[in-house]
Amino acid sequence: MSIFSLTSACSSLGFNSSILTVQLGFHCNETNNFPGAFVSSPKRTKTKKFYVACSSATNPLLVKAARGDPVSRPPAWMMRQAGRYMAVYKKLAEKHPSFRERSETTDLIVEISLQPWEAFRPDGVIIFSDILTPLPAFGVPFDIEEVRGPVIQSPILSEDCLKALHPIDLEKLHFVGDSLKILRQEVGDHAAVLGFVGAPWTIATYIVEGGTTRTYTNIKSMCHTAPNLLRALLSHLTKAIAEYVIYQVESGAHCIQIFDSWGGQLPPDMWEKWSKTYITEIVSIVRNKCPKTPLVLYINGNGGLLERMKGTGVDVIGLDWTVDMADGRKRLGNDISVQGNVDPAYLFAPLPAVTEEIQRVVKCAGSRGHILNLGHGVLVGTPEEAVAHFFDVTKSLKYDSSSQNHAMEESKLLV
Ligand code: CP3
Repeated sequence: MSIFSLTSACSSLGFNSSILTVQLGFHCNETNNFPGAFVSSPKRTKTKKFYVACSSATNPLLVKAARGDPVSRPPAWMMRQAGRYMAVYKKLAEKHPSFRERSETTDLIVEISLQPWEAFRPDGVIIFSDILTPLPAFGVPFDIEEVRGPVIQSPILSEDCLKALHPIDLEKLHFVGDSLKILRQEVGDHAAVLGFVGAPWTIATYIVEGGTTRTYTNIKSMCHTAPNLLRALLSHLTKAIAEYVIYQVESGAHCIQIFDSWGGQLPPDMWEKWSKTYITEIVSIVRNKCPKTPLVLYINGNGGLLERMKGTGVDVIGLDWTVDMADGRKRLGNDISVQGNVDPAYLFAPLPAVTEEIQRVVKCAGSRGHILNLGHGVLVGTPEEAVAHFFDVTKSLKYDSSSQNHAMEESKLLV
């Protein structure tokens, strides 16, 4: 039996596309059944004294899917969801041209993070921040330049440079905690508030190379020429990042994504040694403190790493779009959740093609443990209508109850 029945419907935006809808046999008591995109924005409430434990009473759809619990449809969010392509963000960025200001001022962080929430009602609201944001809080100043992107003024290239590092001072990151608290108040449990960090290897590529690189030659040669130095740096980052994850969870994040964006640049055996070790340590430290918080691991170019990623102990593996979702599911098995993996370029295609691709990916992923997402971030220039359509289509999906009962048997899902 197919997990869907296909009917034709028009989205709330009036697009002429055919959308998968429902044949729902079971009932799920989820809190985030918003009817469609462009619903009116919620009234901003004033921040009251607010404490969030590591898990909440009513779990958002995304948290359930991350844990592999039954859900009526896949939850969806997008990486680089906030900003970049939205007109309201571009206008705000003109007024506040410094990325450091935009990402380190509580009011601006909250406003930008909520822009896609107010426009599209995704199932996850990611904090507007960057993987490099915590660097100054443990001794590594950086800047983001318009053309060059991230710039680290004093790259770490010798043992002597390590002296600049100190334990993470979370007070210096109060704007992250403050913003997460407000975001949690704003969206309640209607959507998951997503925090994120960079994995030690990915952060280290910036700290060693001094910024963006295409070849990773300095850090890759350091693996051989100064392994103790690199190990010391990665260990320092591991402790700082683990503390930072716990801080984000205690401030209100429902779920944390670990971006090892440049882990796919390593040969798999080198990834095991220089990245997996440290991610696994972060997972174990965080699990100890926040056992219920789902952790997602994303690597750009992860086709050669999927099985190895599973060994880190995370709850969800993000797939980029170069891996077929059906292959990914087969390789990872049914005891872990998956996230992804529509090619971001699909959002430039005609809307019916977007609909079809969402249907295909969702069928391949199976009806348990799938968070729908792009295979990487939203691209600059993406039409907002396509993003709205993506979320509209998602909300019209419903898993068939019988396929939930036989969760994730691929042959059943690929009919
Ligand atoms: O893209 C990825 O692979 C995700 C991981 C990642 C982020 N930042 C997360 C992020 C990486 C590798 C970075 C480094 C970084 N920071 C870059 C890439 C440079 C390179 O090496 O290719 C850049 C340009 C920055 C600075 C930055 N971060 C800007 C200008 C912006 C705002 C607009 C934009 O481009 O998205 C960000 C925001 C940002 N970085 C988010 C995330 C998850 C925003 C939260 C979201 O909406 O997803």
